[in-house]
Amino acid sequence: MKALGIEGTAWSLSVAVVDENDVIVMESDPYIPKEGGIHPREASQHHSEKIGELIKRVFEKVPPEEIDVIAFSQGPGMGPCLRVVATVARVLALKLNRPLVGVNHCLAHVEVGRWKTKAKNPVTLYVSGGNSQVIARRGNRYRVFGETLDIGIGNALDKLARHMGLKHPGGPKIEQLAKNGKNYYELPYVVKGMDFSFSGMVTAAQRLFDSGVSKEDVAFSFQETAFAMLTEVTERALAYLDLDEVLLVGGVGANSRLQEMLRIMCEDRGAKFYAPPKHLMGDNGAMIAYTGLLMFKHGHVTPIEESYAKPDFRIESVEVNWE
Ligand code: ATP
Ligand code: FE2
Repeated sequence: MKALGIEGTAWSLSVAVVDENDVIVMESDPYIPKEGGIHPREASQHHSEKIGELIKRVFEKVPPEEIDVIAFSQGPGMGPCLRVVATVARVLALKLNRPLVGVNHCLAHVEVGRWKTKAKNPVTLYVSGGNSQVIARRGNRYRVFGETLDIGIGNALDKLARHMGLKHPGGPKIEQLAKNGKNYYELPYVVKGMDFSFSGMVTAAQRLFDSGVSKEDVAFSFQETAFAMLTEVTERALAYLDLDEVLLVGGVGANSRLQEMLRIMCEDRGAKFYAPPKHLMGDNGAMIAYTGLLMFKHGHVTPIEESYAKPDFRIESVEVNWE
């Protein structure tokens, strides 16, 4: 069975076809803002201009007749972007006369990670631009055990990078700078119960930079503090839930220092650490296609009249009736 998936919740626009075993084709064309952060209306304009071409390229590799189900990222995300994706998915489903599955973007990050690693029942640390959550499955739902109280870690890294004159996306640039950091400066370490917060840290790090501390030392101090917070909460979730696997997903998961901290924590506790390949970590069409396929095979179909954009779609609201 083959599913076509469209991802377009924010900056990323990506269309893929997968079957049960692998990604067959993936075509992507991200929106990159000329300056500053992501503007929802500009991103949605980009999506509506580029999506036709991406679908054409996908159909050159897999003819439309071979596709069994159409999946799309229904939320959470930026309203204008989600509406473009939902409209295109609806048109494809009607034109090809195929069922439609609206996929929760966060669930898709988790499921593509489980698909492409050996993780079975992990504590998932999902770290991206807009989201930072510690997720685990309890019965027939995924539950969020801890999350950011303000901005996602990726947005925090991007904001700090922009303040230091670096272009979007800032995460990878901060990672490179941090490798040459020599001095650690203390920053506010904010963990409240199982939740954490980054915006105070960003302001404090920006002040450090303004006071003359080098970019390298600011980047190093920021990463060490923020990633220690994320590792602490992930470890606590492992202990509370008595689980022994950690899965790292989301764009920030590409960061080698974050991976290293989690790996060390897992080794200390006798837990296993998993991370999917980099191209499936950040936003991508394959994760939507795969999760749509999985859901469809377990009876999930989204009627056209319920295929509207869900900007605040929570992972807990999806019934998980698969292994
Ligand atoms: P979501 O909709 O799930 O919030 P997103 O739109 O933020 O996702 P992702 O691809 O999951 O998209 O994540 C993008 C973020 O990842 C950006 O903030 C970027 O700076 C960050 N990022 C990418 N590579 C790295 C890296 N090596 N180190 C740190 N951050 C990174
Ligand atoms: Fe994402």
